[in-house]
Amino acid sequence: MIKISGLSKSFGNLAVLNGLELFVKKGEAFSILGKSGTGKSVTLKCIAGLLIPDAGEIIVDSITVDAANIRDLRTIRRKIGFLFQGGALYDSMTIIENLIFNLSHHLKIPRAMAADKSENYLTLVGLKESMNKLPSELSGGMKKRAALARALVIEPQILLCDEPTTGLDPITSGEISELIRRLHDQFQVTAIVVTHDILCAGIVSDRAGVLEDGILKYTGSINELAGIDDEKVAGFFKSPL
Ligand SMILES: Nc1ncnc2c1ncn2[C@@H]1O[C@H](COP(=O)(O)OP(=O)(O)OP(=O)(O)O)[C@@H](O)[C@H]1O
Ligand SMILES: [Mg+2]
Repeated sequence: MIKISGLSKSFGNLAVLNGLELFVKKGEAFSILGKSGTGKSVTLKCIAGLLIPDAGEIIVDSITVDAANIRDLRTIRRKIGFLFQGGALYDSMTIIENLIFNLSHHLKIPRAMAADKSENYLTLVGLKESMNKLPSELSGGMKKRAALARALVIEPQILLCDEPTTGLDPITSGEISELIRRLHDQFQVTAIVVTHDILCAGIVSDRAGVLEDGILKYTGSINELAGIDDEKVAGFFKSPL
């Protein structure tokens, strides 16, 4: 469960989030739609405790993120799998080493067990054959799948995905979206997916909201959003990127 109340965050004079409210129940998948620069990544980073909000409250399961001490933050980060916008794979490590590193960072398990687990997750996302390659040897879609496997290998209760399909062709975008939905259903994680790809949002999520002027202006099912009489919301449906 993720509950956000009155979340505000500014950088200098730039007010990015301005009293954002959001409730995502356990096991639900929610998409945040929004134009570039509206604060989608900032919202995810606040949830993961990577940015400190100026005001508001963020509760992840029973922990209040904004008031968390170091130990609580560690617990929260162990619960959260984060697919970063650029993938954020370590360039000098092979794909499987990237997963093993993430696993051993969060959970103290023997290396052989970490390697087995990592291979299982890479198999799930269809990358078993490429697990010994470096990120630079993978295509954009393969990198996204590797980043997804790395987010999931810690078996998180919460999955945060930042633009999982950006930069991919429509077919690969669809495949990645289907994969996220399948893994979400399989592992019953609570998921927030940030995107400006309405097709991705429709495949991945139960509900979505549009981030604008620092708040989630509209929330509802994709069908409900499609019916909203607002030019900016309609824009997402007219020209999916
Ligand atoms: N650490 C930071 N320091 C200063 N400004 C920041 C920082 N992080 C984000 N911003 C600013 O906050 C605003 C929102 O950034 P954010 O990355 O959340 O946008 P976004 O909605 O994810 O956009 P995109 O779709 O392009 O990824 C931008 O104007 C950005 O420059
Ligand atoms: Mg972003």
